[in-house]
Amino acid sequence: MTSGMFLRASAVVFGIQVFLGLLQACRAQDSPPNIIFILADDMGWNDVSWHNAKVISPNLQDLHDNGISLNQHYVQPVCTPTRSALMTGYYPYKLGRQRGAIRPKQPTGLSLNHTLLPERLQELGYATHLVGKWHLGFCDWAYTPTRRGYDTFYGLLLGSGDYYNHTRFSGYDFRDQDEVDMTAFGKYSTNLFADRSVEIIKKARAEGKPFFLSTFFQNIHGPLEVPQKYVDMYPSTMAYKKRVLLGSMTAMDDAVGQIVQALKDEDLFNNTIIVFSGDNGAPSGNKGSNLPLRGNKGSVWEGGVRSPAFIHSPLLGSAYIYNNIFHVTDWYNTLLEAASSQGESVTFANDGFSHWKWLLQEAGEAEAPRDTMVYNLDLTKTRSVKGALRKGHYKYIVGSPTTTDKNTGPWLFNIDSDPYESQNLMEILPELAEYMQAELEFYGQDVATRDEPEDDPAGDPSNFGGIWSPGWCTPEV
Ligand SMILES: *[C@@H]1O[C@H](CO)[C@@H](O)[C@H](O)[C@H]1NC(C)=O
Ligand SMILES: *[C@@H]1O[C@H](CO)[C@@H](O)[C@H](O)[C@H]1NC(C)=O
Ligand SMILES: *[C@@H]1O[C@H](CO)[C@@H](O)[C@H](O)[C@H]1NC(C)=O
Repeated sequence: MTSGMFLRASAVVFGIQVFLGLLQACRAQDSPPNIIFILADDMGWNDVSWHNAKVISPNLQDLHDNGISLNQHYVQPVCTPTRSALMTGYYPYKLGRQRGAIRPKQPTGLSLNHTLLPERLQELGYATHLVGKWHLGFCDWAYTPTRRGYDTFYGLLLGSGDYYNHTRFSGYDFRDQDEVDMTAFGKYSTNLFADRSVEIIKKARAEGKPFFLSTFFQNIHGPLEVPQKYVDMYPSTMAYKKRVLLGSMTAMDDAVGQIVQALKDEDLFNNTIIVFSGDNGAPSGNKGSNLPLRGNKGSVWEGGVRSPAFIHSPLLGSAYIYNNIFHVTDWYNTLLEAASSQGESVTFANDGFSHWKWLLQEAGEAEAPRDTMVYNLDLTKTRSVKGALRKGHYKYIVGSPTTTDKNTGPWLFNIDSDPYESQNLMEILPELAEYMQAELEFYGQDVATRDEPEDDPAGDPSNFGGIWSPGWCTPEV
């Protein structure tokens, strides 16, 4: 061929390449972002490497440092309530979930009256996957993940099981979709959850849909179990239980590293949002730590509810610290707005607010999404309110902040200047306290009856061949 023909041919090839390049760029922008929500269990404020330099978690640290650190991210005092709020966008006190976690033999589950976040994402065309722990009820199939918005489920219906034998009390608890998965027996759950998460990411492109992956680890909840190599990464001068606990963070971090690597290998990293949070503060007595915050898991003290968290995505621009109050109910509308940001915005009237424009730093002069937040709310035997409320910098607590505390307050703190809740301002700002008490009482009108049925022996695994199984209650609708 002549040099002229060669030039023309390569110009055409070049043109096609530019065209394909533009098409790809458009696609990257047009396709809704993938969302990965990583939830840790019982992780304290001081159990993450960005608050405690002794913790070894390079992958989480890297995502944190290149993402948006959520400095005032609040969850509920315990597990099931936090997960309920995340899934529904409603305060748990409106769902009857203001107290404890659902026990294995309690014949109930997360109210079927609500459309859960994964169901909404399905409506937007997302593939949805739950890998890990559910803990929102399973006594009837209607309460289980695949009936509540997840296309696939791999993991645990309960909480607090053994990391290797997946047994809680006398029953086995590990499923792949609806089927009991005995192949998981003897394998460390964190590795299994990493492998399945990676597998889902590897298949995502072929599926041709954006995906929502919830990877809800057992780490670092008790029983404290971790492969020895992670324990050995910590100095022998450290208390052994502490090495196991921090080793559990490192095991989870390894899993996160594998998820990130899979996203990069599949060229999905730039169009993926990764959220990381704990579900409540560290409990007292398992070597986790919420210091320097006051209090532990199970309380409305900051140590029980202010969780380390970040959101990472190349779509969000450069790293910074986000100081607006962010409550776990806010993820519902925030993630739905992120998922629909290329089209019509889809948000719902619930207790949460979308922070998406603020996270993108596109909110201009608009006021923060929320300055009021109910930490938790319940009624005492005499039907007076018990709980905590936030208004701007101020936090008002009335009633015992934990189940064992004899002191019932009230307390008033300025969380901005006194994040450790050391100076009670009741006598200095009595009018503000009175106002906040009245406000809590107003919200108190919406406190639902606690959904706390007695354990039902019908749920015992002995009735199901030693397996925790659905099929022993009548769901309320
Ligand atoms: C669901 O809603 C109905 C009617 O609004 C109500 O009667 C019922 O108690 C609710 N069920 C639950 C489990 O919240
Ligand atoms: C599972 O491990 C726990 C310890 O965490 C142990 O007590 C229990 O006997 C084990 N169960 C089975 C079925 O291996
Ligand atoms: C991802 O985004 C970064 C920063 O915007 C860019 O440097 C990189 O080339 C992108 N990677 C891909 C695979 O598009």
